[in-house]
Amino acid sequence: MTKSPAPYPDESDGYWMHYHDEDSQKLADAIIAYAVDRIRLDPPPLDAPKPLSVLQREVGETITAEGLGAMKALEIFTQQLAPSCISVDHPLFLSFVPGAPTESSVLFDLVVAASNVYGGSWLEGAGAVYAENQALQWLVSLAGLPPTAGGVFVSGGTAGNLSALIAARWQWRQRARGAMDSRRPIIIASGGAHSSVGLAANAMDAELLHAPVDDAGRLTASAVRSTFMALNDVDRARVCAVVATSGTTNIGVIDDLSGIGDFAREHQVWFHVDGAYGAAALCAKSVRHLFVGIEQVDSLIVDPHKWLFGPYDCCALIYRDVRIGKAAHTQKAEYLDVLIQDSTVALDEAYNPADLAHHLTRRARGLPFWFSLATHGTEAYEEAMEITLQVTRDAADMVRNSSHLQLVVEPSLSIIVVRRLGWQPADYTRWSDRMLHDGLAFVVPTTHNGETVLRMCLVNPRTDPAQMQMLFDSMRD
Ligand SMILES: Cc1ncc(COP(=O)(O)O)c(C=O)c1O
Repeated sequence: MTKSPAPYPDESDGYWMHYHDEDSQKLADAIIAYAVDRIRLDPPPLDAPKPLSVLQREVGETITAEGLGAMKALEIFTQQLAPSCISVDHPLFLSFVPGAPTESSVLFDLVVAASNVYGGSWLEGAGAVYAENQALQWLVSLAGLPPTAGGVFVSGGTAGNLSALIAARWQWRQRARGAMDSRRPIIIASGGAHSSVGLAANAMDAELLHAPVDDAGRLTASAVRSTFMALNDVDRARVCAVVATSGTTNIGVIDDLSGIGDFAREHQVWFHVDGAYGAAALCAKSVRHLFVGIEQVDSLIVDPHKWLFGPYDCCALIYRDVRIGKAAHTQKAEYLDVLIQDSTVALDEAYNPADLAHHLTRRARGLPFWFSLATHGTEAYEEAMEITLQVTRDAADMVRNSSHLQLVVEPSLSIIVVRRLGWQPADYTRWSDRMLHDGLAFVVPTTHNGETVLRMCLVNPRTDPAQMQMLFDSMRD
């Protein structure tokens, strides 16, 4: 290493933050050891959040003028901060949408961090973008989309839905040749759509119309059609997108993708499918038929950090025609002119992921998912998916065979919604708190049609039927 000329400080003056020395080697060994131990834990401790006052007392102030030193900071994380975070990969973390990253994806995330690739442009990150695109193309092929399809990995379903709907609005305004430039777009979705669709509508100053769902909680083509037909001609022209969900977050149902897709084509309305949770199951033969119609989408999202066994944070955003994503999102600036940004240039000559969503700088966050997919192969993904689906079916049978529980809806994918006969809302909360306190499970209540119930979302192939039986048995008292 060449020494910096005075007056710049270097390691001999005690400046060490950017130099490798014995201490950083010790830190590297400790971090690798911790990471390996953490992913080996089966199950990991469930853990639980501590109140702020407890963290303040036990951890105190960590930012000091002189620094704590790496080993001390690492000790604080491993001994005090990490145990105050619930382990989403615990097999009985069934709240919200858990995560269950493969060992290979987590280990490779360390490599992604160490490489610190700029994943926004081909110029800077060609190798990473090439690999990410292969992982995206696997999803494109599962959905049955044409060769024009492509996309980008963004931080999560919320970011994916927003970027997709911005592209929808771009297309709608283009088609109207200026007639809609000062009009508010309308987006049609069901009340079962994820809250991020409403957030996207808000951010875009779009009007969100909720079409009613059927008895099973599905959005049907006829509900979309009657919502559309109830509008006057002026407002019909404002409808820029219809959003269907393939695996609603609360109850896991799949909307009528085929009928809604037909409607969208007929009326030249952008068809977006939010498959953040459920579209992962496209790779499972036993449920593939539930997704018929998905091949009609204009855009689709699916989150590898949910049910495709990748670490946070990662959402695959896919456009049927990736050039529309590029036209809608490309940022123009003098200092970016060097990146080929002309939207008429073929994308394979200028694939800049930054151009395909509401972002610029981006971590190559699709790489851990790519690495795991490249390592294990797509058949392993299909097998892991089928395992989760089968455990869900077995668990649903346990509920059917019990005297104290009822299924609130028939599970479509891997979400089970359960009623405990005789329980009031406070009983659900008490049971949920006790399970977390005892380190056994993290299952929080939800409401469905105004009723408090329990919702369990399974994405972890290490969740087994015996654990599910234990959970159901614990609800007897
Ligand atoms: C169907 C659906 N869409 C969107 C989201 C939002 O995803 P994220 O939390 O990654 O932003 C979720 C989250 O659970 C979801 O289930």
